[in-house]
Amino acid sequence: MASLRTPILAANWKMNLGPTAASGFFESFLSRYAARADRTVIMFPSAIALSAARHAAQARPDIQFGVQNVHTAEKGAFTGETSVSMAHDAGAQFVLIGHSERRHVFGETDAQTAEKVSRVSAQGLAPMLCVGEKIEEREAGQTNAVVARQLRAALEGLVKQDARAVGPLVIAYEPVWAIGTGRTATPQDASAAHAGIREELRGLSGAAGDTIPILYGGSVTATNASALLAAPGVDGLLVGGASLDPESWAAICSA
Ligand code: PGA
Repeated sequence: MASLRTPILAANWKMNLGPTAASGFFESFLSRYAARADRTVIMFPSAIALSAARHAAQARPDIQFGVQNVHTAEKGAFTGETSVSMAHDAGAQFVLIGHSERRHVFGETDAQTAEKVSRVSAQGLAPMLCVGEKIEEREAGQTNAVVARQLRAALEGLVKQDARAVGPLVIAYEPVWAIGTGRTATPQDASAAHAGIREELRGLSGAAGDTIPILYGGSVTATNASALLAAPGVDGLLVGGASLDPESWAAICSA
């Protein structure tokens, strides 16, 4: 299937760039990247740098923002956590959910990703749900099965309430073996996995499943971004390391 309309370029800064560095980043990035109607750019700074980042980009409403994680409770005794309404108040429109580092470093379960997806959607923000297989799962031919399990677990509850409620929602396919390793999936690998995801989304939510953008992530660089974006079924990119440098991020956003 052809890719969906406007490509989404999303930057996941992980635990990099505090408020001062984020401001400096935007000064440089915005001078290199002019607003384009044919691109959607979404930045995921650390929660503590979000306000500074938004302030630095206030002249550019084309740049959208999100947070990298939330807690499902509204408020309370959860030291170190951020609630959805706090993220919203700070200007987040998107929330990354189920990133591989949340799943594999912090032990986040499928059930927790489901709870986060429901909570974020209910409060009017858009989940960007990350899915992807480990290398041993790929080698065992389980890529589609693993990704389908992650999608079903995270989205079934939402879909049961109302298939039309699946949205706004973005999926990011990020094979674990490609994240931060310099080992990128080929455009063919990405297309094949995205086709499996699209099928699963259709199965879960019918025609609404066709409108959900599916991004690729994992060792995207300014060099390989164009080829990945051109791959059938790739609706955008989620970029870690290469989004930390304003020059390379501007090149990726212009790919
Ligand atoms: P990477 O990270 O681009 O550094 O591989 C991508 C991600 O984890 O979202």
